[in-house]
Amino acid sequence: MDSAPRILIIDDEEVVIDSCTQILRGSGYQLATATDGTRGLKLVQEFHPDLVFVDLKMPGISGFDVLEKIHEIDATIVSVVITGFATVGSAVDAMKKGAYDFLPKPFTPDEFRMIAHRGLERRKLVLETIALRREKELLREQFASIVSHELKAPLGAVQQNLFALEFELSGALNEEQKEKMERIKVRIDELLKLINSWLRVISVDINKLKEGFQQIPITTPLSSALESMAPYAARKNIEIVTTISDGLRPVTGDSLSLAEVFVNIISNAIKYSPDNTKVSVKAEEKGSNLLVSIQDSGVGISKEDLPHIFDGFYRGKSGQAMSGHGIGLAVSRQITEAHNGSIAVESELGKGTIFVVSLPVEITKTL
Ligand SMILES: Nc1ncnc2c1ncn2[C@@H]1O[C@H](COP(=O)(O)OP(=O)(O)OP(=O)(O)O)[C@@H](O)[C@H]1O
Ligand SMILES: [Mg+2]
Repeated sequence: MDSAPRILIIDDEEVVIDSCTQILRGSGYQLATATDGTRGLKLVQEFHPDLVFVDLKMPGISGFDVLEKIHEIDATIVSVVITGFATVGSAVDAMKKGAYDFLPKPFTPDEFRMIAHRGLERRKLVLETIALRREKELLREQFASIVSHELKAPLGAVQQNLFALEFELSGALNEEQKEKMERIKVRIDELLKLINSWLRVISVDINKLKEGFQQIPITTPLSSALESMAPYAARKNIEIVTTISDGLRPVTGDSLSLAEVFVNIISNAIKYSPDNTKVSVKAEEKGSNLLVSIQDSGVGISKEDLPHIFDGFYRGKSGQAMSGHGIGLAVSRQITEAHNGSIAVESELGKGTIFVVSLPVEITKTL
């Protein structure tokens, strides 16, 4: 296939088409032209342009509609609007419909060449970004598979054999040997936990998660998280005060994953709070969002740490004294974003922290 950049011009004025053709002659670009939107869109599908110039004012289907359809056909195609009425308003509208740039009529050959060049550079960048994203995805999958097959599986086997050996040797080991055995077991256990953490971060498959989305009341994942966290809170004599507003609308999501989000945040609140304090968990609706806030009066997060706490494997100063791998929040953010939600945080060192998970509620359409 010829790899020369492809440009399509859709304009009802023959003179514009002729002058563009003239200007691009000898430039090495492949050019296709159409004098109305319908033919133009057909060419978008057959000619596969990198860059499309679209006249805004054409008889038949309008330039705005053409822009929208091009975007639907292939969102990576870069489109530039040609217009005789170069008002800011039409430029803004065109940008909203996905246009990348704007060429006011009349234009000089240099202006046209420059905008074409810029549009094609943009297209190159868009395609490169997609390729990089795909490569990253592939690396992530490969890494996950290497970690689980080459590290986790053999280490699991070592652990199994160790358990068997310990059983067989029971009674035969002296105190010193028993201590060594114990140390080996602890280290292997830590390594397996670390590997599981890695796997958790790299294996949140957002698309797969979305396949299982259902309408659920927020109380389902929230209660399950609170229940599993209760023993940890009790150990530190931390009271979890729960306030759930009446009549909360359901959210669309995956209950187990949302429970994981709440477990991660509530477990942090407990972990990073001193004994005998309170953690408050609140669920309420605000506009079209359901907000679940988890507030503690713990050690707080420093201003330097705050922008990084959602990064994978990042542990703030407050984290270092406690056990963990710095993945709870990274995973929580991935899961929440897969639900079209977000997590906000405010914190003051020495005073406490509040995390707010915001999820869109199911909108019932009234027609
Ligand atoms: N409620 C909180 N109070 C104080 N610091 C917090 C709180 N929640 C999170 N942090 C800080 O953010 C960092 C990242 O949190 P995250 O939950 O991702 O990891 P972690 O708790 O260190 O380990 P893991 O969750 O993997 O066991 C923590 O190391 C800690 O410094
Ligand atoms: Mg954590």
